[in-house]
Amino acid sequence: MSTHPSAPHADDATSISPPPSPHLPSDDEIRALHARHAPRQGAFDLVHTHCVVVAAVAGQLLERRPQVLDAGLVHAGCLLHDVGVYRLYDDAGRIDRANYLRHGILGELLLRESGYPEALSRFCSHHTGVGLTRQDVVRHHLPLPVADYLAETAEEELVMYADTFHSKSEPPVFVTTSAARRGLARFGPDKVARFDAFAARFGEPDLPSLAARFGHRIRES
Ligand SMILES: [Fe+2]
Repeated sequence: MSTHPSAPHADDATSISPPPSPHLPSDDEIRALHARHAPRQGAFDLVHTHCVVVAAVAGQLLERRPQVLDAGLVHAGCLLHDVGVYRLYDDAGRIDRANYLRHGILGELLLRESGYPEALSRFCSHHTGVGLTRQDVVRHHLPLPVADYLAETAEEELVMYADTFHSKSEPPVFVTTSAARRGLARFGPDKVARFDAFAARFGEPDLPSLAARFGHRIRES
């Protein structure tokens, strides 16, 4: 019999069950985390509001087309996914656009340093576009360690997909399905195909109602 310390025992049901969902922080706890790390009010307003909007998009998608997944984990993942953006601001309040793609791994590090479990910190490093492959990193000279940054769970897929419908432009805007597809087409037909697969699974959000709720316009192109 194996003596490996992590080997499950047949009579120990807890060791062979799927891992339980992590303790999920409340909306207020996540808001406080954003406030602690935002270098200025404008950054907090832009990033935290975007995260709240993405959570609303994901929530609406789940309402319209229920899925077998952990809705609480999706909600927390949406609220946390962009916290790494705060680490891209300089002292003058300018954002480092050249390294913008690094916000994912910066957010993962921030959450890890804050004691958050991997199931939550992964939302930061695995939400960009419809997923980045190591080939994407090399081919496009992306400022990231060469690795795959792909959604691995249905929860990560939904956060990633919901994020494509809202942009932190100033002012922030909602992005239509056709505009999102056009944006992804620049990175190859495989990206559009992946977006279409998400759309087939999760459906499309009702952007006019979300735009009215948050007061952000809808960008068609
Ligand atoms: Fe985002």
